[in-house]
Amino acid sequence: MENEITNARNSFMSELQGAKDAESLESIRVKYLGRKGMMAGFMGKLALADKEKKPALGKELNKLKLYIQEEINRKKDEFLADRDLESEKTDITMPGFFRESGRLHPLTGVLNEINDIFISLGFQIAEGPEIEKEFYNFEALNIPLEHPSRDAFDTFYIKGNTLLRSHTSTVQIRIMEKKKPPIQVIMPGRVYRPDAVDASHSFMFHQVEGLMVDKGIRFTDLKGILNLFTKRMFGEKTMTRFRPSFFPFTEPSAEVDISCIICNGKGCRVCSHSGWLEILGAGMVNPRVFEMVGYSPRKFTGFAFGMGVERITMLKYGIDDIRLFFENDIRFLKQF
Ligand code: PHE
Repeated sequence: MENEITNARNSFMSELQGAKDAESLESIRVKYLGRKGMMAGFMGKLALADKEKKPALGKELNKLKLYIQEEINRKKDEFLADRDLESEKTDITMPGFFRESGRLHPLTGVLNEINDIFISLGFQIAEGPEIEKEFYNFEALNIPLEHPSRDAFDTFYIKGNTLLRSHTSTVQIRIMEKKKPPIQVIMPGRVYRPDAVDASHSFMFHQVEGLMVDKGIRFTDLKGILNLFTKRMFGEKTMTRFRPSFFPFTEPSAEVDISCIICNGKGCRVCSHSGWLEILGAGMVNPRVFEMVGYSPRKFTGFAFGMGVERITMLKYGIDDIRLFFENDIRFLKQF
């Protein structure tokens, strides 16, 4: 039996050497260690062996069994390691995964800039509803029934006297109804007008409204604030021009131009050779509006202004078509 054990050991060693994969290794394991395998056979024979030889033979068999087990496990690990190397081979010279970072929409970026400038001048930010009562869009702002902007062709009516606001001046009223002066707010938001869409018109766009009310607010305060704003927004060299105009809710009213940022006022295609670009409407709050919200026009004065965010963004970046803002074309958006 000693010889048989030695032979078994030798044949195991050479078979193990020949094992090419996990499958052939498994059949070797079954052949030697399986329930009906070679080692089990030896154990059967051991029971019949001479009494005095039993301990030594038993020891030998245990040693062999342990040896076979260890060798098989070692080989198994080898196969595993080889397979891992093969399938998980990594080419560290390949470029990594590239995740493009998002960015702000140009309108959001410019709106943030506008907000920051006014916040630095002591203004607070307020918002109002986009679905609005006719009263806030018109009556409270001294816009009479016969005014053309109240026409259904110029306003999105929803039901009865509800509509999509056509300007952010509505929020002036909502603020003054709730709060007594001093007031110093800007009111950004979306507005809606049923205009046919073209390069310079959109049925939805953004405005930033401004309102400052207190004792002794003068037109020069309006000029000072807007001069500061345009310089910070478009550069120190930018000049402003106030042209007389008309809005029912301000008196006097003005339209404000900046010196053309393309040609510095010399005259070019962008400014239609005038040297000036219109950027907003403004004026001193009409006393009739103060009466509507229960302020005393004798006690308080104030100014208001309203600017289009799309227009300012188009001027700032030289964008010639308003539709580009709303088409979600990555090639356009990537440039900001
Ligand atoms: N609400 C006006 C518009 O939409 C702009 C404006 C606001 C004018 C405040 C004067 C004062 O055209």
